[in-house]
Amino acid sequence: MTILVTGAAGFIGGNFVLDWLAAHDETVVNLDKLTYAGNLDTLSSLADNPRHIFVRGDIGDRELVGRLLATYQPRAIVNFAAESHVDRSIHGPMDFIQTNVVGTCNLLESTREYWNGLAEAPKAAFRFLHVSTDEVYGSLTPADEPFRETNRYEPNSPYSASKAASDHMVRAWHHTYGLPVLTTNCSNNYGPYHFPEKLIPLVILNAVKGKALPIYGDGMQVRDWLYVKDHCSAIRRVLEAGRLGETYNVGGWNEKPNIEVVKTICALLDEMRPRDDGKSYTDQITYVTDRPGHDRRYAIDATKIEKELGWKPAETFETGIRKTVSWYLTHMAWVENVVSGGYRAWVEKQYGSEVV
Ligand code: NAD
Ligand code: DAU
Repeated sequence: MTILVTGAAGFIGGNFVLDWLAAHDETVVNLDKLTYAGNLDTLSSLADNPRHIFVRGDIGDRELVGRLLATYQPRAIVNFAAESHVDRSIHGPMDFIQTNVVGTCNLLESTREYWNGLAEAPKAAFRFLHVSTDEVYGSLTPADEPFRETNRYEPNSPYSASKAASDHMVRAWHHTYGLPVLTTNCSNNYGPYHFPEKLIPLVILNAVKGKALPIYGDGMQVRDWLYVKDHCSAIRRVLEAGRLGETYNVGGWNEKPNIEVVKTICALLDEMRPRDDGKSYTDQITYVTDRPGHDRRYAIDATKIEKELGWKPAETFETGIRKTVSWYLTHMAWVENVVSGGYRAWVEKQYGSEVV
């Protein structure tokens, strides 16, 4: 049996494929465009593995996707492919519309054509799992209940609006055409192979390089943090037993203000890689201009997936962040390889002279 995984040279997709191949005997076809966020280094351990077939291409390329589906006859598609960085969506929203909205629609159409042509048994067993985000629900006040699957969609950034649109398309393809879809809406992931434009890897990298640790605004924005391996196990479980057409919120029950996350990383680095001058890494914390339209709080109520499918995260924030800091300190070669010229240009554009 085979599954098609899109965007699997990225952070979560890469972790998903590594875990999948370790746990299953099925083949994975990995379709990834290799944007700045795609990195085959993450999958270097699979170089000689015949069960990993990498194809460079766009989810929006109907001809390519149609050919892949006809050739490999997957029993499921897991769609991770997306533009994923909120700050980049503020600087340039159109790439987000192109991949997250138009690309997802094209992928749905290619899938529908393939699924319609399947025989009865494989047609009934087929699944299309769409990986989405908690950001589609908008921003919470401190007094609000965490997001449930029934919350209204109120996306606030070009990124979250593009993901919300893709979720609606997936829902519509189920209701209108009967496509057997599942959607997961997940909180902030962290862990190995996370691109260092996002808060946690950026802070670890900047800290050890002696650079400023940029905190947007007052640093009191709250996110729910989920260790990436826990997200991968949730997706496997939803693929296995999720009810068709349903959405499942996936979270870590770990709400933290950004400043607390950054101070926790500093304390771990003080312990694992003390600064030469004996001072704390917290000295490098620098408050910078806030993100426009910055959502104040996200929080996930993951009761549905726990009750229906028996899934719970294995890591607490304390265990997961320790593993993550340790992973980065021992995988600096991976980090150096992704920190290309393009990445340095991004840092200059985003932080300008505020962080040097
Ligand atoms: P990422 O940016 O690290 O990886 C995205 C991958 O998709 C890259 O390998 C990129 O090359 C590929 N890609 C981009 N456009 C493509 C296209 N048109 N065709 C084929 N491949 C393309 O993202 P991530 O953090 O791994 O997120 C994966 C998915 O999970 C996204 O859909 C994102 O919205 C969602 N998500 C992420 C988080 C998080 O905290 N990172 C949380 C919730 C949901
Ligand atoms: O909630 C899920 C989402 O989490 C995913 O859908 C997105 O793909 C993923 O990128 C992530 O979005 P965030 O905007 O929450 O993640 P980011 O790491 O960019 O920022 C986390 C918080 O830290 C956010 O409140 C902004 C803040 N921040 C971020 C950066 C990069 C800073 O204070 N300083 C920084 O330099």
